[in-house]
Amino acid sequence: MYRSNTCGELRLADVGKMVTLCGWLQKSRDLGGMTFIDLRDRFGLTQLAFNMETNAAVCEQARKLGREYVLQVKGLVKERESKNQQMPTGEIEIIVDEIVILNEAILPPFTIEDNTDGGDDLRMKYRYLDIRRNPVRNNLLLRHQVAKQTRAYLDNQNFVEVETPVLIKSTPEGARDFVVPSRMNPGQFYALPQSPQTFKQLLMVGGIDRYYQIVKCFRDEDLRADRQPEFTQIDCEMSFVEQEDVLNMFEGLVKHLFAMVKSIEIPQVPRMSYADAMKYYGSDKPDTRFEMKFVELNSPEADLVSGKGFKVFEDAELVVGICAKNAAHYTRKQLDELTDFIKRPQIGATGLVYARVNEDGSIKSSVDKFYDEAALAEWAKAFGAEPNDLILILAGGADKTRKALNELRLEMGTRLDLRDASVYSCLWVTDFPLLEFIEEDGRYFAMHHPFTAPKPEDIKLLEEGKLGEIRANAYDLVINGVEVGGGSVRIFNKQLQAKMFEVLGFSKEEAQVQFGFLMNAFEYGAPPHAGIAFGFDRLCSLFGGENSIRDFIAFPKNNSGRDVMIDAPAAIDNKQLNELGIAIKNV
Ligand code: AMO
Repeated sequence: MYRSNTCGELRLADVGKMVTLCGWLQKSRDLGGMTFIDLRDRFGLTQLAFNMETNAAVCEQARKLGREYVLQVKGLVKERESKNQQMPTGEIEIIVDEIVILNEAILPPFTIEDNTDGGDDLRMKYRYLDIRRNPVRNNLLLRHQVAKQTRAYLDNQNFVEVETPVLIKSTPEGARDFVVPSRMNPGQFYALPQSPQTFKQLLMVGGIDRYYQIVKCFRDEDLRADRQPEFTQIDCEMSFVEQEDVLNMFEGLVKHLFAMVKSIEIPQVPRMSYADAMKYYGSDKPDTRFEMKFVELNSPEADLVSGKGFKVFEDAELVVGICAKNAAHYTRKQLDELTDFIKRPQIGATGLVYARVNEDGSIKSSVDKFYDEAALAEWAKAFGAEPNDLILILAGGADKTRKALNELRLEMGTRLDLRDASVYSCLWVTDFPLLEFIEEDGRYFAMHHPFTAPKPEDIKLLEEGKLGEIRANAYDLVINGVEVGGGSVRIFNKQLQAKMFEVLGFSKEEAQVQFGFLMNAFEYGAPPHAGIAFGFDRLCSLFGGENSIRDFIAFPKNNSGRDVMIDAPAAIDNKQLNELGIAIKNV
């Protein structure tokens, strides 16, 4: 038996017991007569004590041990003289009789402490050492809890976990595929699934009725803090359901997860149409932890800016702003910073107009030349602005201005501490457009995916060719401004699916080659079905109160899609290439 206890479990009640512990040497302190070692395992730290007077041999041995040595120690549990109330085992220590060195360790390249001196790259290269640190290990434990509770909830609701294949066929829609060459079929490639979408629909045709899978998905897209090339979904599908059933079922999952993992009761999740999300927040994933809704100043119903000679506003398609509560104290320098922020190329606004509501109710704006007190008072009324509030306004093309104001709103939210990571605000965004026109390609693309059903009342628009106006039975779950999940009611009728491929620019033959298996399946009695997939890594990082999903994945890729620990991707040798029938040109 290697150990009788873990390093996290001994308490005052254990005093007097002989125990055997195993773990890594976290830290040692040599105080002359006494030497102390903190021994660490997954469960915690325990202090080991060595006394030069009573056991010189073992004490000498202890003094020579280095950091991260793997040890087995035997000894007596004793009450500590100076207790450490910060540590769960801080009331006891082990008077060690015997040390066995299970393995030596060279000096780690960074300190294995909560606040490490290791930079990102180093930590990734030695990820196995990083995982020894509490923050990373705790994230993995949290991830385990979320998976366990997901399974518990869905199992209780009669969902069946079914695995779907990883070697599948490349499809032209969506992100880029990762592909895998086939040795047995030279010149042919599998693709790794971007999601199990078509398979879960085929499982519905197969009568599984309620499916889920915690599943790896692969997308060759540009990476960001909340995007990895391989990531995990909680993928779900249900038969004989409408949108409402899906929203209720998965609102239940979200509530269950918050209750079990975070001990937080989530109130009923509000819903907002895509159109309203864009109008009031300029984003289809608004952070609703704070209000600061958009107010339009040149709408046909209430035009508060025209006829005063200010060309920028008069020529603009949209004049829209936000009201930042209690931010009227913003200095010239801070306002300049905000102006620089919105003028950055990624945001691309041309300028920022502001109006401060002073303590006494008077208003001072950057466009006083054009708008008198009475006009500014009208603005303040429209924004519901009160003394000490700051109004920030952008103008220009409608889409671009909304996007820029969304960024400004989030920036103000951050600056005013309105985006507390321990506060959670959930939102269903519904009624997404079915199709979106992409200028560069000169055609419509499916906003969610090509299997999403139009709203029944909008199907006629499909026939009429009013493609941009069709709304879909598609929905996203947004938490704190993060798109945590997305899904839709599916097309289950072959003709409608064929029509959908047609508007997406597929010829009949192309559609048959790419998606014939699905359309054929629809001829054998496909049930009405709908589903959703949650970004499992994103959910975990939200629960962990962080923006980046990287530290919630045991072995993540860096921003260039590399695993720097195993050094992948890597070249393969010519023999392997030949077997695969692949010739690589020298680049
Ligand atoms: P969608 O493409 O919206 O839908 O993906 C579902 C959720 O997966 C997460 N996600 C990601 N997480 C980390 N890294 C990525 N690169 C990444 N890409 C997506 C997001 C997203 O909301 N088959 C459909 C679902 C359905 O219709 O049922 C699908 O995959 O949180």
